[in-house]
Amino acid sequence: MFSVGLTGTKLGCAEGGCGACTVMLSRFQTHTQQLLHYAVNACLAPLCSLHLVAVTTVEGIGSVARKLHPVQERIAKAHGSQCGFCTPGIVMSMYALLRNNPTPKMADMEEAFQGNLCRCTGYRPILEGYKTFTVVRQIYKHTVKTHSCQNTHSHCIFFFLQDGGYFAPFDPTQEVIFPPELMSLSKGQRSRSLCFRGDRATWLQPDTLEEILRLKWKHPDARVVVGNTEVGIEVKFKNMVYPVILAPSFIPELNSVTHTEDGVVFGAACTLSHMGAVLRQAVETLPPHQTEVFLAVLEQLRWFAGQQIRNVAVSPSPISDLNPVFMAAGCKLTLMDKDGSRVVQMDDSFFTGYRRTVLRPQEILVSIEIPYSQKVETFVSAFKQSPRREDDISIVTAAMSVTFTPGSNVVEDLRLSYGGMAATTVLAKRTANRLRGRCWGEELLQEACSTLAEEMTLDPSVPGGMVTYRRTLTLSLFYKFYLTVLQKLRQQMFLIKPKGSYSVISPFLLQAVPKGRSQDDVLGRPMMHLSAMKQATGEAVYCDDVPLYENELYLSLITSSKAHARIISVDTSAAERLPGVVCDSVSFRLMTCPSSLQVTCVGHIIGAVVADTQLHAQRAAKAVKIQYEELQPVVTIQEAIAAQSFYQPIRTIQKGDPEAGFKQADHVLEGEMHIGGQEHFYLETNATLAVPRGEDGEMELFVSTQSASKTQSLVAKALGVPANRVVVRVKRMGGGFGGKESRTTVLSTVVAVAANKYRPVRCMLDRDEDMLITGGRHPFYGKYKVGFLNSGKVMALDVSYYSNAGNSMDLSLSVSIFTTETHTTWRTFVAKPISVSIFLQVRRLNLYMEGDSTPYNQILDQFTLDRCWDECLSRSEYQQRRAAIDLYNRQNRWTKRGLAIVPTKFGISFTAAGALVHIYTDGSVLLTHGGTEMGQGLHTKMVQIASRVLGIPYSKIHISETSTNTVPNTSPTAASASSDLNGAAVQNACEILMKRLEPYKNKNPKGSWEDWVSISLSANGFYKTPDLGYDFDSNSGRVFNYFSYGVACSEVEIDCLTGAHKNLSTTIVMDVGHSLNPAIDIGQVEGAFMQGLGLFTLEELHYSPRGVLLTRGPGSYKIPAFGDIPTTLTVSLLRDAPNDKAIFASKAVGEPPLFLASSVFFAIKDAISAARAESGIKGPFRLDSPASAERIRNACTDRFTKLCPPAEPGSFTPWSVQV
Ligand SMILES: Cc1cc2nc3c(=O)[nH]c(=O)nc-3n(C[C@H](O)[C@H](O)[C@H](O)COP(=O)(O)OP(=O)(O)OC[C@H]3O[C@@H](n4cnc5c(N)ncnc54)[C@H](O)[C@@H]3O)c2cc1C
Ligand code: FES
Ligand code: FES
Repeated sequence: MFSVGLTGTKLGCAEGGCGACTVMLSRFQTHTQQLLHYAVNACLAPLCSLHLVAVTTVEGIGSVARKLHPVQERIAKAHGSQCGFCTPGIVMSMYALLRNNPTPKMADMEEAFQGNLCRCTGYRPILEGYKTFTVVRQIYKHTVKTHSCQNTHSHCIFFFLQDGGYFAPFDPTQEVIFPPELMSLSKGQRSRSLCFRGDRATWLQPDTLEEILRLKWKHPDARVVVGNTEVGIEVKFKNMVYPVILAPSFIPELNSVTHTEDGVVFGAACTLSHMGAVLRQAVETLPPHQTEVFLAVLEQLRWFAGQQIRNVAVSPSPISDLNPVFMAAGCKLTLMDKDGSRVVQMDDSFFTGYRRTVLRPQEILVSIEIPYSQKVETFVSAFKQSPRREDDISIVTAAMSVTFTPGSNVVEDLRLSYGGMAATTVLAKRTANRLRGRCWGEELLQEACSTLAEEMTLDPSVPGGMVTYRRTLTLSLFYKFYLTVLQKLRQQMFLIKPKGSYSVISPFLLQAVPKGRSQDDVLGRPMMHLSAMKQATGEAVYCDDVPLYENELYLSLITSSKAHARIISVDTSAAERLPGVVCDSVSFRLMTCPSSLQVTCVGHIIGAVVADTQLHAQRAAKAVKIQYEELQPVVTIQEAIAAQSFYQPIRTIQKGDPEAGFKQADHVLEGEMHIGGQEHFYLETNATLAVPRGEDGEMELFVSTQSASKTQSLVAKALGVPANRVVVRVKRMGGGFGGKESRTTVLSTVVAVAANKYRPVRCMLDRDEDMLITGGRHPFYGKYKVGFLNSGKVMALDVSYYSNAGNSMDLSLSVSIFTTETHTTWRTFVAKPISVSIFLQVRRLNLYMEGDSTPYNQILDQFTLDRCWDECLSRSEYQQRRAAIDLYNRQNRWTKRGLAIVPTKFGISFTAAGALVHIYTDGSVLLTHGGTEMGQGLHTKMVQIASRVLGIPYSKIHISETSTNTVPNTSPTAASASSDLNGAAVQNACEILMKRLEPYKNKNPKGSWEDWVSISLSANGFYKTPDLGYDFDSNSGRVFNYFSYGVACSEVEIDCLTGAHKNLSTTIVMDVGHSLNPAIDIGQVEGAFMQGLGLFTLEELHYSPRGVLLTRGPGSYKIPAFGDIPTTLTVSLLRDAPNDKAIFASKAVGEPPLFLASSVFFAIKDAISAARAESGIKGPFRLDSPASAERIRNACTDRFTKLCPPAEPGSFTPWSVQV
């Protein structure tokens, strides 16, 4: 697609985990005579599988130049596109849904977006925009109307969403038709047998069963591939090579569905989506007692991957989450080779080892029969517990089936099947045998639990870790089954909860625009992100979308696989022999310590290779053989403290007399906690294209960076040329979040060096490389001692924070107190709040007041936190909520609710910015400033400011890009201060121009803008934050220019048996001063909140004890998905809170709301406290962040957890360690 200029489909992970690459496939199915449209992940779809298939990409449905499709228009107008990198994928998921169902329900939308991620928006605006297609729209309109909004103009989001007329109508009859030539080919073709030969693999697509059996006989090692969602990952990430691939998609027998007397037989190439549709229909038509198994399979399918995967994937994987339910149900499999067939049951003899089954090499699976449940007395349930509910591989899956002797509660037959408790799916036979003949009651339960605890054991070092949790889950899930069956036996309701819809109500409050303001003055109005439309159509250009230069080369990095080691030898010979590799390009140079041969983290860049294509470069990089002598790594903060491995200086702040405070205190509480690190997970990975200009050492770079000037200076240094020879250009980034502030330079510098040596060179890191190389936010370990009065008033606080700064200092000093040096990758912004434990014990009583001074001696003025607090308390109806939660908790034993309200105060401090404004004689304005656009809407706000100062409509103003040859020596776009700084510089430049225009205006007061600007005008603007400067030693001076404030109140519900939690409600009140653009600011608040939600409840970076990062992509590292947003999310911007320290009385907004998500963490802790109280446990307890399902379950101590005690620390090597 790239080579034909279709760059709209984005690559965010290459492993099916982010949905950025979603496209729609359409094909005519001859055996059903049906036309199918379905969303898939392009990154996993083999080109060979697309024979007779029409592919629709985001460009195919609309464009800014032509006409936007309503799906594109609505996401843009609803502010659902910030950086835009995820947008084409989301657009295509929605489009595919509408092609199949023009009036979907909310639940259909939930399902359609299970496979899409967005890191910027927090998802709410996307859902708001797309709700307009659903049948709940009427309800939604009613909801919004109940909230006041004083913006009654066409830029108001309320207006957009209430007034259907604002959107182009959606007419499903006008969609692109299936290409007639494909239709006639599909219908007419007799033989569809295909063979594609590549240099490493042959793809054989036979069209008869006999043919595939003959081929399998001939090539017993051939892999059968249908969806490629398993094999594709093996080839890409595990370097597997399969010389022969057999694709059975055209074989009728493998695609058929047959209803028999015993059940439904699915051909082995039937997709999971198809299986789901057939089973759903069966459930609707058959008597309930026959469909127990079907319901259990459907429950597993609901949480199996995302829609794009289910649309292509099939069930026959040896590690599938479906296997436990197939095993518990006794599904029958028909296996065949060219000499005949046999039928085997999926029981515990089916799996012979990890990823191995009884299938012989020459056999294939032809079909699987899912049986009806035969008796009224049979009950079947299936369970899946994963770190994230949506689109995640399970930690433990289970399926259980019980049959009772008719008319009794005596167990006649019982099958308990578990996945995730051994190398294969297993049956808990011993437990089942013991329970046969017993009555379904408390005694059976106790026997089951103690036997299961003995039978379902795990080695403490088992891959995947979470040993105690996994063992406890086997009991907890059985208990759930026990209760379910008990209820059914009592002929009561099924226990599984009805499917929940998220965000049905998500109001937010904007600020009022003063009456009488001109419609042309867009400042303070919720104007749409200026690139949103282009982003929604795929026309927005990102770094890697720049067309290929002739002869361009691709660079691949060679990195260390050891955390701490000495390099003994490097063998490049195999790499150099590979096709496409540029001779003598395989070169090495240690980036952080060139003089030694030591590597200090996994991912340490030690060399690079360039080749003619990405594939060739990556193959060559993998072919380089490096021998290491391993040295002892320092991996965890505790190891670093023990080894006194600290970066200097170690900083201390003391204010007042803590000892005296502790003496006055009625109570002293001491404790410690750990906050895990976080991957920034911008959807667009790091990318650079370097183009030598051929003269005077000039080099032009296109880089996805927040820091153009830093990139320029480091490249100039590396090339040995003055900075004036290097131009760095940044059009936009697909997200940054601080992760592209400084770490981008490790790539851009290497690429520039290669380009300088050869010709244009490009590199866009794969997701796994990006996560490995560029580091993330710091993990923190904190020890606290707090003294407080009976009233709760804090008298003294002594806190030590240790951050894991990784193997190089980078920006760590700005974030940390103690920065430990370890052999993990370096760390970088966004700054993580370090005051988690403080707010746990103290609330309103200890809030700052106007005039208070901070620990670093800064007086707080223009203080609004108390207003935010009171408003949040009232908007969230805190008191009523608290009472309702207490009641709920008294009435429910195994689910508990929790509530927490948390304030935040965030200092804004960055220094200088510049701007350049050209006014052309046709009246158009080209605006350039020092900030970069990464989705945060900076360019939009800058245009709004220029529009206000110049007094012209924003449509006359254009921003093309950020570049070092227009605005030099800029600060990185970071620390949330870019609107303040660049906005002031833009204002300055525009005011200069307005001054120059004054004589022309005076001369022709009735003239138009175009009349006045008939001369050429250009001006530079500059801004420097006044009076900043802080001295740590004397604890004096101003650290921050001002503070942003906000408060959030969250309510959650936890499942005490599994540790899963649901975010029920969050109310946020945020002070953004006089908002420059309320829609963008609300988007920032929600996006930051959701990122914080990931930090505090979901995202876990796992490191092995030897310092190897084990979580390197969306498959293993889970950022929040659509389903994680609170069911009710209310965001209000504080009114009447002008800030005299920033442009047009506004305030910074990017990072400050991130910490507000800790309200969810503390609400979870509150709910856990209620669960512990049920077990008779009172008092403080330690809960580290993130509050993952594992931590929640382990903290809810009960009789099940007691049966699964953890192994003695130190007696085993864990799979992963807390760094
Ligand atoms: C983003 C993502 C999310 C995922 N989520 C889940 C999840 O939630 N739960 C889960 O269990 N898995 C999950 N998976 C793994 C994968 O999707 C499943 O294992 C799926 O069942 C594989 O189907 P496929 O057709 O794509 O497999 P392919 O890659 O095409 O092949 C799958 C395997 O089955 C074998 N096979 C297929 N058909 C036959 C046949 N007829 N005879 C013999 N062997 C055959 C193949 O040789 C291969 O070993 C996920 C994968 C991705 C990429
Ligand atoms: S790039 Fe295909 S799913 Fe992420
Ligand atoms: S807008 Fe979704 S990832 Fe940036």
